Amino acid sequence: MAISPEEFDAIRKFVHEHSGILINEGKEYLVENRLTILLVQNGCENFLQLYQKLQSDPGPLRTKVIDAMTTNETLWFRDDSFFTALSDHIIPRLMEKAKTQSLVRIWSAACSTGQEPYSVAMLLEERRRQIGPSAPPLNRFTILATDISPSALFIASAGRYSQLAISRGMKNDFLDKYFKKNGMAYELDPTIRNLVKFQSFNLKSSFASFGTFDFIMCRNVLIYFADDLKKQIYGKIHDALAKDGLLAIGASESPRGYTDAFEQVMLGGAAAFRPKGGGSKAASFEPTRLTGNA
Ligand SMILES: C[S@@+](CC[C@H](N)C(=O)[O-])C[C@H]1O[C@@H](n2cnc3c(N)ncnc32)[C@H](O)[C@@H]1O
Repeated sequence: MAISPEEFDAIRKFVHEHSGILINEGKEYLVENRLTILLVQNGCENFLQLYQKLQSDPGPLRTKVIDAMTTNETLWFRDDSFFTALSDHIIPRLMEKAKTQSLVRIWSAACSTGQEPYSVAMLLEERRRQIGPSAPPLNRFTILATDISPSALFIASAGRYSQLAISRGMKNDFLDKYFKKNGMAYELDPTIRNLVKFQSFNLKSSFASFGTFDFIMCRNVLIYFADDLKKQIYGKIHDALAKDGLLAIGASESPRGYTDAFEQVMLGGAAAFRPKGGGSKAASFEPTRLTGNA
């Protein structure tokens, strides 16, 4: 179904207002490809009728339109240098924290279909196994994983993946250790699945109810937003991070130009960001070598 310039404008304003997602000029095909099915399912003859329906019945239809306009592209262990930094620097630091802190809190702030938070959960468990009996128990860690897309969250919470999804970045040894094949699907071990709590959340909303996190990942999502929203979200992330917390963003992203509240830390080949002025609590991320059972 072809979209007129007026319809395109109305729909992209609507999507921007409710999700922050920018649909640039020239992306008419994206709206047509992703929303035509909803248009048909809702008995509309054109995009104007769909837009009018959105105005009068904003609840479930709004959710479906926003869901359809999200890009849920993700991979297991996405970005080698980030996951190397996670294994060598960040997880050892979180393990140290778990020795004195009753709960270490991690947030995957745009988790899509779950590959990001589950990759982190598997690496946490790997590290615990390497440390051995003196390792902090898994219940000292929790991973909150949020996204605006209900269809992505549905796949994520099920923890069941197709061969195609598995082929996108999963390592063979992790597949053997943490998945069970059931028919056509690969099912994630419940120990790993239970470490991650999924929740629907719009990054445009207030973060106030979440409390403080030790580590936040907000990777490959702010690229879809306008500068003023990026600025607001970096500010809210700063306020949600512990003084000695750490933020990870996508390899092509940087908070520079939006806030000076963070300083960059190089962890091997990957950059991460910690709140400025953490004082003696500022995080140190020296690699921690394992010796014996320590
Ligand atoms: C490209 S995926 C990134 C997934 C993962 N972080 C990664 O790096 O592989 C972007 C995700 O951001 C989500 N998203 C877009 N706008 C959002 C918003 N306003 N609030 C929360 N999530 C949003 C999308 O639904 C999508 O799943």
